[in-house]
Amino acid sequence: MMHDGAQVVRVGLVGAGDHGSNVLFPALVQIANVKIVAVADLGIDRAKTIAERVGAPAFRSASELMTSTAPDALVVACYPQAHADIAAEALERGIDVFVEKPPTLETSDLVALAQRARDKGVVTAVGMNFRFAPAVQKLRTLASTPKFGRLAHIGLHHFANKPQQPMWGLRSIAKSFMLAQTIHALDLALVFGGKVRSSRFTSLDPTASFTKHDLVFECGAQATILSGNVFPRFDFDISIIGTNAMMVRMDGLWSIDVLDAVVGDYFGPARASTKTWRPSPLDTGFGRPGYLGGIKSFIDCVRSRERFEADFDSLLPVYKVMDSALEQSDERIKSS
Ligand SMILES: NC(=O)c1ccc[n+]([C@@H]2O[C@H](COP(=O)([O-])OP(=O)(O)OC[C@H]3O[C@@H](n4cnc5c(N)ncnc54)[C@H](O)[C@@H]3O)[C@@H](O)[C@H]2O)c1
Repeated sequence: MMHDGAQVVRVGLVGAGDHGSNVLFPALVQIANVKIVAVADLGIDRAKTIAERVGAPAFRSASELMTSTAPDALVVACYPQAHADIAAEALERGIDVFVEKPPTLETSDLVALAQRARDKGVVTAVGMNFRFAPAVQKLRTLASTPKFGRLAHIGLHHFANKPQQPMWGLRSIAKSFMLAQTIHALDLALVFGGKVRSSRFTSLDPTASFTKHDLVFECGAQATILSGNVFPRFDFDISIIGTNAMMVRMDGLWSIDVLDAVVGDYFGPARASTKTWRPSPLDTGFGRPGYLGGIKSFIDCVRSRERFEADFDSLLPVYKVMDSALEQSDERIKSS
């Protein structure tokens, strides 16, 4: 069906918990020519609560949803075990699928899903929303300009106060933290740095609640990522340095400061100038953390049949770094 020139994409939402109901559902209803055709959740009442808002049916399982409504795409926000199972079934049915992070608990499952998606020509996506935050998009544009030069170093701070307990049936808080939180920082580091040549993992406390990943990329650039769950609240910042002595800092997902060696023109003559970018005060809600941009981009790929940039394949190198970090940890960290 066509509407305003764009094909209507029929989406089934699976997982009506906190993220599904309060972030993905409202993001989806903002996108033109997207129709939520059904919602599924093991807790049928949660599914009904949001399904009723768009006059759609509710189901207890993704299987029932797919059989009854044959959607073009699924958007899934459950738990990683469910993400892997539901994605596998969607792939077999030829249904495009967006799953929240983490897509799987184990790398071997992601490898198998990525291979199957390639065979079936299905569009896959992982909710790596930071990539699509307007501030990160600006940073990516800046880092690709000749003036910035080549990337020399990227520093990321990803501070959180959760999880405090192992999640999703895992024994290890270190693995839970990587899959729940550090995955975002590692993914962004790889977006900027490209292929990883080597990675070193250091625990800055006895239980790996505060950690450091040092990456060396094939392009010669390096990354330092500090992350942990011991902080009072969530905070995230990035600084990138280019070979032309340009420094760019992003604070939160909010403001960007560029420091370059050009003679300043804002505060009188100076040896260096600082320029700041901030989003519009109106640019808030689901746009600023990149939730809306990520889902919109996935829907565009469903229409165009192009690869989504954060697809299952693209997450494999991130899983490799996480596996390597756990291998480098001592037994106490692996099991704590
Ligand atoms: N990208 C981000 O910034 C971000 C932020 C928050 C959460 N998330 C991710 O979203 C996912 C959900 O998180 P949440 O906080 O909403 O959790 P939640 O516990 O609030 O909700 C999960 C929902 O999934 C349902 N569910 C579980 N297995 C199911 C299955 N097999 N079939 C149907 N429904 C099933 C549960 O009944 C529950 O309602 C997690 O993977 C989390 O990591 C991502």
